[in-house]
Amino acid sequence: GGEASEDSGTKKGKDEKITIGFSQLGAESQWRTANTKSVQDAAENDPEVTLKFSDAQQKQENQISAIRNFIQQGVDVIAVAPVVETGWETVLTEAKDANIPVLIVDRKMKGKKIDDLYNAWIGTDSKDEGERGIKWLEDQMKADGKESEPLNIAHLQGTTGSSAQVGRTAGITEGVEKHKNWEIIEQQSGNFTRAEGKEVMEAFMKSNGDNIDVLFSENDDMAMGAIQAIEEVGKVPGKDITVISFDGTNDALEQVVDGKINCVVECSPLYGEDIIETAKKLAKGEKVKKEVFVENGIFDSKNAKENLPRPY
Ligand code: AHR
Repeated sequence: GGEASEDSGTKKGKDEKITIGFSQLGAESQWRTANTKSVQDAAENDPEVTLKFSDAQQKQENQISAIRNFIQQGVDVIAVAPVVETGWETVLTEAKDANIPVLIVDRKMKGKKIDDLYNAWIGTDSKDEGERGIKWLEDQMKADGKESEPLNIAHLQGTTGSSAQVGRTAGITEGVEKHKNWEIIEQQSGNFTRAEGKEVMEAFMKSNGDNIDVLFSENDDMAMGAIQAIEEVGKVPGKDITVISFDGTNDALEQVVDGKINCVVECSPLYGEDIIETAKKLAKGEKVKKEVFVENGIFDSKNAKENLPRPY
C-alpha cells in the first residue's frame, strides 16, 4: 500500500525502490520475533520497498555497526529498535551528516542532543504499562478485601538500561512506594528471556520463596520461565504467587486461562505497517508526527479466553 509520491521535492524517482535499513535489537522474546516478522511482512507486501534487516543479538555495538553499514550503503532511511536508551548520539550524528532520516521504533533513546538526531518514534508507553499493572493489583487487592494487608513483591526486570525496563520499573516501583504495606523484596534483571527469567526466579524462590506474594515480570517470556521455577519448588503460580506480566503473547494468555498468570498488560509488536509507512514518508521527505504511541489493552481471567488465539 502507500500513497504514490507525486511531490517534486522527493528524493526518489518513480520506479526506484525505497531502501529501509532496519536494525532490530535481537530475538530475545516472542514479542521481538513477532515484531521482526511484522516489519518484514509489511515490507514484502510493499512493492515500493526494499528492506535490509540486521539482528544485533541484544548488543548495542552490533547495532552501531549495523547503522554504520546502512550509512555506507546509502540506504534511504534507517529504522532502529534500540536495545538500551543511551549512547546513540555519535552514530546518529553520522546518519544526520549523511542526510539519512532516522525512525526509532519500540524502545526510546535518551541523551542531551538526541531530539535533533532522529525524525520520528513509534512505540508504547512503558511507564504507563507499569502503572496499569499496579492499578490492576490495587483493584484486585480491594476486591479481595486485602488492601491493608502486607504484600511482598518480587520483580523480574527486563534488559537493564532499556527504555522498556526503565519505564516499566518506574511505573511499578513508584506504584509500590505509594503503599506503606507493599514492599519489593526481590528485584533483578532476567534480560527479557525465558531462560534467564527462570534462572532469576529460581534464585528468588531459594532466598525468599515462602514470602513472595506477587511477581511482576516485565515480559511474558520471563513470566513463562518464572512459572516453571515456581512449580519446581511445589508452589502454585497464580495462587500462592500472583503473577503480573507484560506483552500479551499467546503462551501467556493460555496461562491466564489456566490460572497461572493473573494479569497481562498488553504491548503489541504488530505495527510493522506503521513502521514501513512512516519510514517511506521520511525517505520521501514528507512530514510525520514526531511521536506515535501504540494503543494497548489488558488481559485477566475476565477476558483472556475470548482473546485466544493471539496473533503473537
Ligand atoms: O521493548 C519491548 C519489550 O522487549 C517487550 O516487552 C519484550 O518482550 C521485548 O523483549
